Amino acid sequence: MTCLRYLLFSSLILSCHIASAAEPPPREVLIADLLGRMRLEEKIGQLRLISIGGEMTRERIREEIAAGRIGGTFNSVTRQDNRPMQEAALRSRLGIPLFFAYDVIHGHRTTFPIGLGLASSWDLDAIERSARIAALEASADGLDMTFAPSLDISRDPRWGRVSESFGEDPQLVSLIAARMVRGLQGTKPNDPQRIMASIKHFALYGAVEGGRDYNVVDMSALRMYQDYLPPYRAALEAGAGGVMVALNAINGVPASANAWLLRDLLRREWGFRGVVLSDHGAISELMRHGVAANGREAVRLAINAGVGMSMADDLYLEELPGLVRDGEVDEARIDEAVAAVLGAKYDLGLFHDPFLRIGRAADDPAEVNAESRLHRAAARAIARDALVLLENKGDTLPLRKGGRIALIGPLADSPVDMLGSWSASGRAEQAVTLRQGMQAALGERGKLLYARGANVTDDARVVEYLNRLNWDRPEVEQDPRSPQAMLEEALRVASQADVIVAAVGESRGMSHESSSRTRLDLPDSQQALLRALKATGKPLVLVLMNGRPLALGWEQANADAILETWYSGIEGGHAIAEVLFGEHNPAGKLPISFPRSVGQIPSHYNHLRLGRPYREGSPGNYTSQYFEAANGPLYPFGYGLSYSRFELSAPKLSATRMRAGEKIEVRATLSNAGPRAGSSVVQLYLHDEVASVIRPVKELKDFRRVKLQAGETREVRFEIDESMLRFFDANLRHVSEPGAFRVQLGLDSAQVREARFELLPPD
Ligand code: BGC
Repeated sequence: MTCLRYLLFSSLILSCHIASAAEPPPREVLIADLLGRMRLEEKIGQLRLISIGGEMTRERIREEIAAGRIGGTFNSVTRQDNRPMQEAALRSRLGIPLFFAYDVIHGHRTTFPIGLGLASSWDLDAIERSARIAALEASADGLDMTFAPSLDISRDPRWGRVSESFGEDPQLVSLIAARMVRGLQGTKPNDPQRIMASIKHFALYGAVEGGRDYNVVDMSALRMYQDYLPPYRAALEAGAGGVMVALNAINGVPASANAWLLRDLLRREWGFRGVVLSDHGAISELMRHGVAANGREAVRLAINAGVGMSMADDLYLEELPGLVRDGEVDEARIDEAVAAVLGAKYDLGLFHDPFLRIGRAADDPAEVNAESRLHRAAARAIARDALVLLENKGDTLPLRKGGRIALIGPLADSPVDMLGSWSASGRAEQAVTLRQGMQAALGERGKLLYARGANVTDDARVVEYLNRLNWDRPEVEQDPRSPQAMLEEALRVASQADVIVAAVGESRGMSHESSSRTRLDLPDSQQALLRALKATGKPLVLVLMNGRPLALGWEQANADAILETWYSGIEGGHAIAEVLFGEHNPAGKLPISFPRSVGQIPSHYNHLRLGRPYREGSPGNYTSQYFEAANGPLYPFGYGLSYSRFELSAPKLSATRMRAGEKIEVRATLSNAGPRAGSSVVQLYLHDEVASVIRPVKELKDFRRVKLQAGETREVRFEIDESMLRFFDANLRHVSEPGAFRVQLGLDSAQVREARFELLPPD
């Protein structure tokens, strides 16, 4: 290992560092010792998180690091890039190591399905495995931390970042949160093959008004505690090391200046001691929010509120020294933030070995994108289960191998769109498109004909917007032919086929940060294509690729089958082909409701009870509904078909009364009445009939993903205890209240069978 000047632990050690030779002192001793010896400028340096690849040259960055003016970096993703920076850090006066972070959101080199896709699997083991592999690959590239998972409850599909989320349900997202953290961090953060999770975006980012990115959030405390905060908390309880602060304001105060959020709730109430990061440039945005007149005020607000590190923002560096000197910021605030940064580095094992994940130069991979570094089998398996079958009229699917299939659509052969947004170090060249996947599955059997049919959109403004989203190449490549010429080609191809598979949806940038939409339908170019294909009278199968729920009224009425594939990752093409040809029986279930139209938003299943609810089958006057459209979502939360026919019995309870400390067992039988093996998800919802505050019509509490052979029947069991009946009351106490509860069991949230029990008051 390189011999480095490595000054640590005691004021006089100047030693030649040999990895793993020097055991650092206990965590708190080391932090206190360093804090005692750090100059104010060095402390402030630890709070600076810079993006590599910005305006500063690499050389300048190394100088800044060696001067003790940088605490961590993000956006450099190879060991070769990170090693010289770490060496520079060890040359600084106190030799405090850097950490290296990156947005590893749904895979690193291996791209897995986007968050909504992962959540559609309802397979917590698989989700954890995806995070574990992401950590393995990221750590092998010298990374220590990811800005993930995104735990923003998302109920407004207009918001582009819905794609990064795990959907609308507090319980499902909380369960996923804990497993993502476990997958990323493992059981000890200093594991060289794991990375630290910095959860985001704290808090309530998914609730931006109108689904417009960066917009404000106004929300009652009750709704926050009940619905939006649980996933963040679950991740912290699972040990997440970091928290990224959201860009939005909450009830009038930007999250980055929100002392209630960061001090009272996060630190005091939840006891979080880890590192708190701002989002990109968020501290200077306090001026644009209009809560700070200048940079100095912005910094005072942020540090006093509890923002530890400032991301891609030099204001801490510029303003903190003066603020401390003038007594406007207590140095104790800075010490507290620095202690958290040092603590994270300690936990990551970097004081023990600053090169823990960077490793030795001799072991660097010759080619970072080598095929051998990918985890294709896992990506394929996880992608298969992320697919949700929305329609399958007359058993159109699975397709027969052997016939002639027309594959048409702008997303049928678009590698970059397989990846989805925030695909970290995923490479489009390594993604299997649907065309490739179907061709490989067919081999010599049958014929796959292809035509692009349309561009994703013909709206030049939208194309220009998408191509400015800052990726390393244009996002959308327009076919220069006229729409008419493309359509004619598509119809020619379709005329030679027995069945049409149309791959349509959104290009990945349409579901991204700052990609909010006012419409949820397919762009006009694709709607015109679908209508023309429908007019051929051939069976029409839609393969959707999109990062948000879409309004699919026409498609539901006119397509013979619809498969929701989200953005399914580098192995997506193979996985989708397996489902289309029936080698895999789809089992995905929606983690978010699909509204019928934009006007219906919000349309989440777990809405509160009302004084004048709409009743199915009634005209609806003077009830809560929209009179020109059918009520309820087009596809509800928890919904997804299978090639099998699953039948679920009514729930049977072991008792109809229970006291705190006791349990009720719920049993039901699930049968696979279809002709093939398959999996389904049995979902347990509860409803509190009368309580001191209004309770949702149903809330997911538990689920079982069950695999059954054709003709097999199995008993499914759940346990209900008093803790599952708790909710936040008007005083924000987490309580259960005696009274009647309904158990609602179903294979989706809309069609449930019920049983009742009573929670008795304590003796
Ligand atoms: C996003 C974060 C991301 C950060 C760093 C911001 O624009 O809001 O989600 O982690 O950039 O890339």
